[in-house]
Formats: sequence, structure tokens, C-alpha cells
Amino acid sequence: MTKIVTCIAPVNIAVIKYWGKQDEELIIPLNDSLSGTISTEFMCAKTTIMVSPLLTENKFWLNGKEQSFDNKRLNNCIQEVRRRANPELPQLNWKISICSENNFPTAAGLASSAAGYACLVSAFAALYEIKGDISSIARRGSGSACRSIYGGWVRWCKGVKNDGSDSIAKQIAAASHWLEMRVLILVVNDTRKKYSSTDGMQRGVKTSELLKYRSQTIVPRRIEAMVKAINEKDFHTFARLTMEDSNQFHAICLDTYPPCVYMNDTSHGIAELVHLYNEYKASNKVAYTFDAGPNACLYLLESEVEEFLAVINEAFPPRENQVDYLRGIPVTNRCIPEKMRLSLNIKRHEEGMLKYIIHTKIGDGPQLSHRPEDHLLDEAGLPKR
Ligand code: DP6
Repeated sequence: MTKIVTCIAPVNIAVIKYWGKQDEELIIPLNDSLSGTISTEFMCAKTTIMVSPLLTENKFWLNGKEQSFDNKRLNNCIQEVRRRANPELPQLNWKISICSENNFPTAAGLASSAAGYACLVSAFAALYEIKGDISSIARRGSGSACRSIYGGWVRWCKGVKNDGSDSIAKQIAAASHWLEMRVLILVVNDTRKKYSSTDGMQRGVKTSELLKYRSQTIVPRRIEAMVKAINEKDFHTFARLTMEDSNQFHAICLDTYPPCVYMNDTSHGIAELVHLYNEYKASNKVAYTFDAGPNACLYLLESEVEEFLAVINEAFPPRENQVDYLRGIPVTNRCIPEKMRLSLNIKRHEEGMLKYIIHTKIGDGPQLSHRPEDHLLDEAGLPKR
């Protein structure tokens, strides 16, 4: 009678940011946002869910540690999937066992809740046989999670209804549309206290005048320009809009009172390096974007990766003997052309300012598996590890 399914789901990186809610409980945003879905090959969340009449309690493990089931957002998601299911399904009354992990270190400070909730909701949707769009359910776990329900380039439309039923994600282009697109994630060493995006944006809505202007006036036109740039594969414009939006988002964080400071000196050093490189190339070849932390996400085309990585290595050298500095898609090591080195006059930072770099690309949405060897739970509904 037991039902079990495993899902893997992607991380997404916004190029037009979501920042600010008009409804805290339903997680309805103040503005539309747009992101690229990152391939699950090197970064993903994995979740196994079992429902069974043999289970006696609801249980939840995250990254090897048991968690309380008494979590509002988790329960909102479960309530919402159940509401959408055929009420006659027997499994709706069975207890639940959930085991979830990320294949990238959470200590790196990379947003994992988006992939996590997209994964959880996709698995529940399979177990409770739900049809149609489930992004509005994933949204109840974490706003940005709704965009991880689809692959490629995804727009979260804020919607107009008070119940949030039309606040959903839509794919604007598949991963195959812009095959040359690559992503470099620069994991920055940082020891400062972290504050969550949920708290940061709440404070922003209360205190930042700029946030209001951004969500009502800037984003509506910027997002249309971004959709056009992606459709036309116009990298120069795509990069400008991405960097402008990231900078504006962090300006709003500083306009928040008390301010939220997410970028550190290394983050600013990376942004500076990108502008230096783009100026040398006389067009935008690399775009940076920063979320609620110091790590940089760089979008660039495949043709640019080797050379720009050489520039990064020069500016942000790894610690001596570090073996796994570059992870993900392999790249041939290259030196910077002498002319470029002289002209760029790159500032060499101390070793180890970056923990490591992940080289990846745009990918597909969540994938389900029914193969026993993929499950994180054993037949009794307990974590295998
Ligand atoms: C900076 O989705 O983590 O990454 O809805 O409160 O869970 P909650 O917030 P969350 O916010 C993500 C903010 C961001 C920008 C983005 O991904 O669009």
C-alpha cells in the first residue's frame, strides 16, 4: 500500500529580482521576477517522500538532521497539495516521511530553499496525483521556489487575484533556446552574520521608498526588455539589465532601515573586474548578479569562459595547493593574453578570497524517479544514511 517517490529539482538565479511581498501569508510578490534555471548536474535538491498507512508519525529529515514537522511553510504546501487532490484518494490520510538533501554545501550560503521547496512540492504532486501548474504551491514554501518548477528561463507573474491563484511561474524559453549560456558561481569566503531574505525584504517593504518605486515603475518595463533580450539572445542587453537590476536590488537593501548589507569587499571586487573586462571588450561579455549574500553569479557565453576564468584566477587566486577550486563543467586552463594583462592592470587580491567556483549552465525543471536505488528512504520510511 506504500507510495514512494524521489525528485531532484534545480536552483534558479534571478536576473530580475523578487524583493518584497504584498501578502506575507500567501507569499504574493510586489513585482514580477525572472530567472534562469540552473542545470541539476552539479547543484540540486533531492527529496524522497513516502506516504503509507504503516507509518505512525509524520517525519522530516533535512541534510541528515531530523526537523520538526511543525513548520508553517511546509504545512501550507502540504495543505495546498491536498486541497488540489481528488478527496477520495486513500493516501491523503496516510502519514508522511520526508528526506531531503542538497548536493552542494549549504554552508556555502547558496540559496537552497528554492530548490528544496520545488522538489518537495513536485514529489507531493506525484504522490497525490495532481495535474496542472504547481508553481503556486511551491510559492507557499518560498517565493523564489515557484520559478524552480520550470526549466530554462522563467518568469514569475505576480498576478492580480487576492487569493494568489494567478501568482504563478511561466517558462518564457526552454534551456535549449540559449545553449551557449554558461553560469559561474563564485563562492565567496565570508564570516559575517547572515540575515534571511524573508526578514530583509519585510524590512525593506516597511522602510524603503526606493522599493516602492522599483516595484511599481522600474520592474514592469525592465522585465519586458529582459524577455525581449532573452528571446533575441541579445547578450549585451541581457547583461546590462541583469547588472542594473542586481545593483538596484542592493541599493534598496541599503535604503532599508536599518540597512541590509549583503555584498562584501570581495563581491564588489568581482563586480569591478567584470566592468573592467567588459570595457576592454567594448561590449558586455559577462554579467554579475548577487542575491541575499556575498556570492557572485556570473552569466556569460561559452566562448568567454576560458578567458574570463583566467582573469578571475589572476585577480582572485586560489590557496596554494587547493585542488578543487574549479568544480562543474571542466575547462582548459589558459593564461591571459599579454596585451590584455597590461591593459586591464588587474588588481591581485589575497589568496583564498573565493572558496571555490562552480561552472555550470541552464537546465531543465524537476525530475521524478521511481527507482528504488534513487530513494533516500528505506522500506520502513527511515533515511538510508
Ligand atoms: C534575493 O524566495 O528566499 O534571491 O519568499 O521569503 O522565502 P521568501 O524569499 P526567497 O527570496 C529570494 C530573494 C532573492 C531574489 C530572487 O531570487 O528573485
